[in-house]
Amino acid sequence: MEKPLLIFALALLLGACAPLAEAPPLELIPHPISWNPGQSTCSLSGTWNLEVAEEWKDERGFWLDWLVADSDGNEGKAVVVIMERAHGMEPEAYALAIRPEGIRIEAGSEHGAFHALTTLRSLVLTSGGVLPCGDLVDAPRFAHRGLLLDCCRHFMEPDFVKRMIDLLALHKMSVLHWHLTEDQGWRVEIDAYPDLTQKGAWRTEADGSQHGGFYTKEEIRDIVAYAAQRHIEVIPEIELPGHSRAALAAYPWLGCTGEAMEVPNDWGVFKDIYCAGQDTTLAFLKTVLDEVMELFPSEYIHIGGDEAPKVRWEQCPRCQKRIADEGLHDTHELQSWFIGEIGRYLEAHGRKMIGWDEILEGGLPADATVQSWRGMDGGRDAVAMGHDAIMSPTSHCYFDYPVESTDLEKVYGFEPEPEGLNGSGQILGGECNMWSERAPQHLVESKVFPRLVAMAEVLWSPPSTKSWRGFQERMESHYGRLDAWEVAYGWETVPMALEWKKGHTPNSLQVQIVPAMFGVDGIGDFVLRRGSTAAAALGMEEFHSVEGEGELRVTLSRKGASMGDLLVFPLAGHAGAFRAVELDHEINAYYPGRGSQGLADGRLGSDDFRDGSWQAANGQHMGVTVELDAPTQIDSLSMQVYRYQDAWIFLPDSVRFQWSVDGEHWDGEWREQPFGSPTFDPSEAQDVNRLVIPVGETARWVRFEARNPGPCPDWHDGASSATWLFLDELVVHSQP
Ligand code: ACM
Ligand code: ZN
Repeated sequence: MEKPLLIFALALLLGACAPLAEAPPLELIPHPISWNPGQSTCSLSGTWNLEVAEEWKDERGFWLDWLVADSDGNEGKAVVVIMERAHGMEPEAYALAIRPEGIRIEAGSEHGAFHALTTLRSLVLTSGGVLPCGDLVDAPRFAHRGLLLDCCRHFMEPDFVKRMIDLLALHKMSVLHWHLTEDQGWRVEIDAYPDLTQKGAWRTEADGSQHGGFYTKEEIRDIVAYAAQRHIEVIPEIELPGHSRAALAAYPWLGCTGEAMEVPNDWGVFKDIYCAGQDTTLAFLKTVLDEVMELFPSEYIHIGGDEAPKVRWEQCPRCQKRIADEGLHDTHELQSWFIGEIGRYLEAHGRKMIGWDEILEGGLPADATVQSWRGMDGGRDAVAMGHDAIMSPTSHCYFDYPVESTDLEKVYGFEPEPEGLNGSGQILGGECNMWSERAPQHLVESKVFPRLVAMAEVLWSPPSTKSWRGFQERMESHYGRLDAWEVAYGWETVPMALEWKKGHTPNSLQVQIVPAMFGVDGIGDFVLRRGSTAAAALGMEEFHSVEGEGELRVTLSRKGASMGDLLVFPLAGHAGAFRAVELDHEINAYYPGRGSQGLADGRLGSDDFRDGSWQAANGQHMGVTVELDAPTQIDSLSMQVYRYQDAWIFLPDSVRFQWSVDGEHWDGEWREQPFGSPTFDPSEAQDVNRLVIPVGETARWVRFEARNPGPCPDWHDGASSATWLFLDELVVHSQP
């Protein structure tokens, strides 16, 4: 230790300088607090000579491996790196002094020191062998910087989990929120209840194949230790009282009915949950938590708490008896009581509880931390009640959502601290959530990256350094790092945007394909819905006219290579598009479907209900009136309605198309049950349904109304909750 320090000090005094010219700019992600460039450069051609303070000597071997993992290891001048603790620095803070003779690291703890090495590792990858000299000061904005990995909907191999831990560490994230129990699979070995993994870890898929897997205790200890070495805390999530079908499949007595059931192979919210009336169920959960706490040394244990339908509790005599015995008002208070029992148990064992924002309903235990997912309100309410919060609203943090709804810029724009709570210290940080219903292991990286890179910066860097433009520029070199780490990243965004407006003739639109990613090129074909082919191919960057209803099919390439799947946009040039609209319903904020013009804008909903075109209302009737330019001879009117009962999106009970010459006297009748009575198979159908009515008259105004079918029926897992209607769009079919 002595000697290099002395050499370093001497070199500093002598101030040996190399020319700055070759030094590349510092292109770090996440952006540090400050960087003051000096006048010279530090050559990296050589082996690393890592000198660590005595107290960190046990870490040295691993730290050196981490630092040199991406270096080419050429012999030559040694790069001296000296690492010391700076008393008074925050644990995760560090400072780098880069000089021609070497690099000095000061850090608040080994955690900060590890971040400093990660910074160096990142810089080395893009440096071309020379670092600019200068002083860098850095520390995270939030302590809790997490990724939720759902290893239940699809099992992920232990090595894959370790790879994600490495990638988290390389982006200075701090938490792996490991979702280990679910309806579709129980993944953590519990000695006291072997059937949890013998039975509950396996499901039979619709095609008869088996899917499953679980982590043995040995594998879990290994993963937790692997993470700890990289300063990633693993927080397990053991879901209760809902999302527990796999446990109920293993031990049916845990539920209210006691009936045998399978581990489900479809997605959604299920009404069979842990019985809150039985002491045996609570005893089971406490035993499970004993074993979980023994495996995971984390300060926090996540207990879920989200999406727990109360139908079974309403009907269960034991649950009703519990409500009476405990002086509770209803099943919501029963959930609160149940969560409270678990919270007190964890607290008695020195752990803190995290739960999804539903745990706010009916009151939450002292010391509980709320993870806000249904927007930001849960976090805001939790803080108002004196609790800590972790922010992961669906709007910015759900990486299972496609880039159509949550692209890189959207994630980068996330602000975890709600207005008025800045600096309160009660927003611990944020998480990105990787639910895996539609992402088996081989797709996970393409969904997590590059979006996690933006989230890492949001959670680490001071808001004063935030710049989307600057981030995009740094991202260009960061792709080089992601390539070096062999990350199978996906798209930043939908690589093209569609611009469209009212056409020059009554039944046309003007359409333009606009590249939305650097270097993207492409071509589209507009194919009429009925009838064969259509207009000529459409190039980029100019408006083209399309006539009638059809699909624009776009093929993209970047740097000469195809960019994968065809993009399809259903469009309709028609007499109602971009004409004056009035709505009867309130547009739901999550599914605005392009706002007030959305049901008459020429852009039709696709087979993805989250495509931004579908307009939705919850628990309400919907209605739209369109005024045409002039009295028009109308052949027919049509409307698309979406059905996905598993997501509580139902078909309307009854519908009415109407038309009028004067806006006062209307033709057109109600049609009851236009699709027949609702199916009893909630999982199967996810489809676009088209309603058409012949008109054969002249009219100036047209209207469509849809009646909401009322709450989810008894057979549905969401029984008694409000249903959704999804519409798009009222198309006026007329002669040109
Ligand atoms: C959640 O996405 N159900 C927390
Ligand atoms: Zn019960």
